[in-house]
Parts: sequence; C-alpha cells; structure tokens
Amino acid sequence: MAYENILLEKKNSIAYVTINRPTKLNALNMATMEELRTAFTDIKDDASIRVAIITGSGEKAFIAGADIGELAKHNAVSAKEYTHRGQSVLDLIENLGKPVIACINGYAFGGGCELAMACTMRLASDNAKLGQPEVKLGIMPGYGGTQRLPRLVGKGIAMQMNLAGEPITAQEAHRIGLVNEVTAQADLIPRAEAIAAKIVANAPLAVQYAMEAVNKGMEMTLAEGLYLEAVLFGVCCATEDKTEGTTAFLEKRPAQFKGK
Ligand code: COA
Repeated sequence: MAYENILLEKKNSIAYVTINRPTKLNALNMATMEELRTAFTDIKDDASIRVAIITGSGEKAFIAGADIGELAKHNAVSAKEYTHRGQSVLDLIENLGKPVIACINGYAFGGGCELAMACTMRLASDNAKLGQPEVKLGIMPGYGGTQRLPRLVGKGIAMQMNLAGEPITAQEAHRIGLVNEVTAQADLIPRAEAIAAKIVANAPLAVQYAMEAVNKGMEMTLAEGLYLEAVLFGVCCATEDKTEGTTAFLEKRPAQFKGK
C-alpha cells in the first residue's frame, strides 16, 4: 500500500514506522491513524519482522498530538466514534505480539504521548518534551492518557500531567519512569536498534508470551497474573525453541531459535 502520512521500511528483522507530517509536527489525523493500523497489521503478519521502531520525521516532533483541525469539527457522537477508532489502533500496537520501541525525538503531546505509552518501551532524545495538554483545549485525553499514564507513573503524577497540562522534559520523564532512557537525538535510533538486536537474538515465542503475561497480567489480580504466568511458562516449555535454548546452553554454543 502507498502511504501518504507515514513511512514504513523493513531491514534486518526490524520495521521502521515514521509519522511523516513534518509541517504539522506529525499531528495524528484519522488518515494517519488508519495508515498506522494498516502498517502495524502488516508488521504483525510479517514473520520476518521481530521488532518495530516508531518515530516522527524531522528533528522537532515525535507527534504533537491529535490533529486539532480535525478535533475542532467533532460533535459528541463523532468524537466518541473517533476516539474508539484511535484507541483500537493503539491497542493493536500494545498487543502486537512483537515489541514496539517508541523513539521520542521531540514533542510528544496528547495523542503523541499516548501513542508512545501504548508502545512496549520508550526512548527519548534529550530535547524531547512530553505532556497531556488536552485540558488547555477544553477536552481531555482520549487515546489512553487517563488510563495508561497512571499505570506507568502512578496516579498522582498522572493527575498532575492530565490536569495542569504542562509539558515535562525528557529528563523528568526518565525520572518518573515514563521513558526508559534518554539519549542524544543522533543516538536515538541506534540505541533502539541495539535493544532490538538483543530481542531478535532471543526466542520469538518466549518474547511474545512474556509480553502477553505483562500486558494481560497488568489487568488482573496478582494471583490471576501469576496463574497466567505459570500457564504461559508451560506453553514455552512445549516449544522447540525451549529444547534448543536449554540444549545450546548445556553444549556451550549459541542457540538457533526458529520461533517454533
Ligand atoms: N494539530 C494540528 N496542527 C498542529 C498541531 C496539532 N496537534 N501541533 C502543531 N500543529 C501545526 C501548527 O498549527 C503549525 O501549522 P501551520 O504552520 O500551518 O500554522 C505547525 O504545526 C507548526 O507548529 P507551531 O505551533 O508553529 O510550532 P511551535 O514550534 O511554535 O510550537 C508546539 C510547537 C508543539 C508547542 C505547538 O505546535 C502546540 O502547542 N501544538 C499543539 C499541541 C497540543 O495541544 N497537542 C494535543 C492535541 S489534543
């Protein structure tokens, strides 16, 4: 498919998704969201891809939020539908079965911060700014800012970010656990690639099930989550890769995983 608002490249088991609306600071209109749905469905179904990296084009913005020009036109009914559609794209990213690394290379506001939070992990460049400024526009977060943010950083800080709407620096985002690491802008993609390479070397099904255990377990009681973990651990032990991984260790050689 020809994309107009994003770029999709594939190289060495990694899919690179770039939001490409630099004149709008990569703001997310619905056309962009639908292109993301198509791209991530493609990534999910492509067995040669093990990790995705998502970033924004240019040096200024990751994503400066939902497209305010589009938002301005919504009524109650269309806004509810719009929010469900957008949320379903972020759910697809969160539950892709493959890690998605957000490389936050500048502003990540509103839907940009929310999209990053749906990713498996977040790296930020040292010029990045993150925030949920929706209340300044008379609206509130609609792509998970009231749900994923408190789960990531705790209720108090999430309330402050959602209610005051003030942006925070990359360093502050790192301090509160909103991003995993902060790098120079030029090092952002190489650092994500280095993490991706570590993941690609590991057993695909084990990676997938570990992600499922964390994602589903976050919605369960501890006892339910531990039960899920035990079941998925059992499934891992039925894979060819478990036999290969443990045998390779005992034979003191690198494992050759097949994702089976
Ligand atoms: N939706 C639509 N267009 C956006 C946008 C958004 N979320 N964010 C930026 N743009 C557009 C601007 O309208 C401007 O377009 P124009 O050149 O046609 O006028 C262009 O991107 C550049 O933005 P500009 O505001 O001139 O850049 P800046 O460096 O002065 O400021 C920001 C950058 C991010 C601080 C500022 O653009 C901003 O506050 N954006 C809105 C952030 C927001 O509230 N996001 C949540 C939306 S729910």
